[in-house]
Amino acid sequence: MTPQLWIQKTESMVKQQFAADATGHDWPHIRRVRDLAVRFARELGANLVVVELGALLHDIADWKFHGGDSEIGPQKASDWLLLHGAPGKLADAVSTIVREISYKGAGVATPMSTLEGQIVQDADRLEALGAIGVARAFAYGGSKGRVMHDPEVPPMMHASFEAYKKNTGPTLNHFYEKLLLLKDRMNTAPARRLAQERHDFMQRFVDQFLAEWDCKDAPDGAESP
Ligand code: ADP
Ligand code: NI
Repeated sequence: MTPQLWIQKTESMVKQQFAADATGHDWPHIRRVRDLAVRFARELGANLVVVELGALLHDIADWKFHGGDSEIGPQKASDWLLLHGAPGKLADAVSTIVREISYKGAGVATPMSTLEGQIVQDADRLEALGAIGVARAFAYGGSKGRVMHDPEVPPMMHASFEAYKKNTGPTLNHFYEKLLLLKDRMNTAPARRLAQERHDFMQRFVDQFLAEWDCKDAPDGAESP
């Protein structure tokens, strides 16, 4: 099989698996990660096949939906590619991206060992920002039974992946614990440019959310006739 066939087969498998997802890990999320990553890869001269397969397979068995186990994803990605006759070197490169990509807490570094991995991680992180990022956070929070906001529960700057995995806090805290930190953790220049705009939008969303939470945006007495 040729690289184009591995990509086609992977795309249709992933499309099918994520068609009905309502947690923010739907096929359109994966498609956008792929599209952005391929764009960045062209600009930066990275290996397009590794980037496209890494993007398509990056959420294949996320630890968040597999009892915190972060080895299932890389294993599945590698097994899938080998089953379809991909060379071991390609399967390894893609599986390494899947292993390293995830955010693991505010205080935990998540270095990617290749340019291809840096690109896919950036594309995935851009999807956690902006309007789509806001929508995905609340979709995920709702799917896990998290409350939207609780001013009594302070955000936590997790110092380890284990502590981050145990988090069950309100969804708005996730903005402080991850989403608003991402713009300073982008690996590549094209991602950094886009991240700034999406970050600014998200900051405005949080400010407006907090103003509405306490009805601070309504003038005094506006609620009485
Ligand atoms: P990552 O591998 O970095 O976790 P994903 O593609 O799995 O990236 O996407 C994670 C998405 O899930 C984020 O965009 C975020 O909005 C959402 N998410 C993860 N954890 C939480 C949480 N505790 N509360 C709300 N949303 C969350
Ligand atoms: Ni993702």
